Amino acid sequence: PRIAVVFGGRSSEHAVSCATAGSVLAALDADRYDVVPVGITRDGRWVLESADPARLAITAQDRLPEVDGSRSTVALARQDDASDLVVHEPGAVPRTLGEVDVVFPLLHGPWGEDGTLQGLLEMSGVRYVGSGVLASAVGMDKHYMKVVLASHGLPVLPYTVITPAGWESDRAACAESVASLGYPVFVKPARGGSSIGISKVHGPDELDAAVEEARRHDPKVLVEVSAEGGREVECGVLQGFGSNPSDTSVVAEISVDPAHEFYDFAAKYLPEEQTRLDVPADLPEGVAARIRELSAQAFEVLSCEGLARVDFFVLPDERVVINEINTMPGFTPSSMFPRMWAATGLDYPALVDRLVQLALH
Ligand code: DAL
Ligand code: MG
Repeated sequence: PRIAVVFGGRSSEHAVSCATAGSVLAALDADRYDVVPVGITRDGRWVLESADPARLAITAQDRLPEVDGSRSTVALARQDDASDLVVHEPGAVPRTLGEVDVVFPLLHGPWGEDGTLQGLLEMSGVRYVGSGVLASAVGMDKHYMKVVLASHGLPVLPYTVITPAGWESDRAACAESVASLGYPVFVKPARGGSSIGISKVHGPDELDAAVEEARRHDPKVLVEVSAEGGREVECGVLQGFGSNPSDTSVVAEISVDPAHEFYDFAAKYLPEEQTRLDVPADLPEGVAARIRELSAQAFEVLSCEGLARVDFFVLPDERVVINEINTMPGFTPSSMFPRMWAATGLDYPALVDRLVQLALH
């Protein structure tokens, strides 16, 4: 089969996506798959990348890679009934890449993980890895994610939403609704990822700056109670083949160096940071089982497909709450999702292969 691996993208998680793609490209079996790497530049141009993951690393700026926009550009187009990628060499007539059997949208954040690319692929009639339009959109929007989870009786932390109109017309009312949650709170762009734009706010005097920071990434802002003293744990979900139920991975725990107030961008991706990942987490058996059960339920109620990583807090009284769901979790070398599956008995190449096979079936 021919696989187009699409990565980079316009969101603030561009570099994370490139690092993810480097790992996945290296793991795709070249004997079985004809791999076409397609990068999306930060300004949204689609470009053909080298199939050699080592070449991707060479484009690295600072410590995380970047899509190099000088390469020939491609566009996705529907041609008759064939699902073809069309290549536009700068200054030349477009040429087609031939039929693509499946697209692996290794994109994080808006314009990639949020249903927009999925909609384009649906319209183009191309199969793709992962969730469809609705689950991707709901999974991306931390507000609607909570609405859907809570309406199915799944546990989430109390929150409030600051809309653009609300913030611009009545900041005092926004501040009041935040205060009624009780400080400290987390202020987050509603549609973001990798902790970009997130602040922990300890009191009302820090609220304005935190909301403005979140609004740089999304006009809609989510404010939620901080799970003080809670442990941060995650669980992977993989769709089953046919009518088989989904599988869940072992549960893993993140312990962030106390120099970081929370699991922020640096603690997630910068190699020198002292973030400890315990895979599996040392949890009472009943708690781990509940987390796996809730993960499968969250996957189900959002109508996810393919894969997801569900993130939780285990509160000091052992109550478990869902923090969020990620429909295209990171696959970087430091990422939890592949590590949890490796500890569950599915190594990295087998995991990538299963995702492609799920999309093809
Ligand atoms: N949003 C990042 C990539 C994750 O969830 O792993
Ligand atoms: Mg996320």
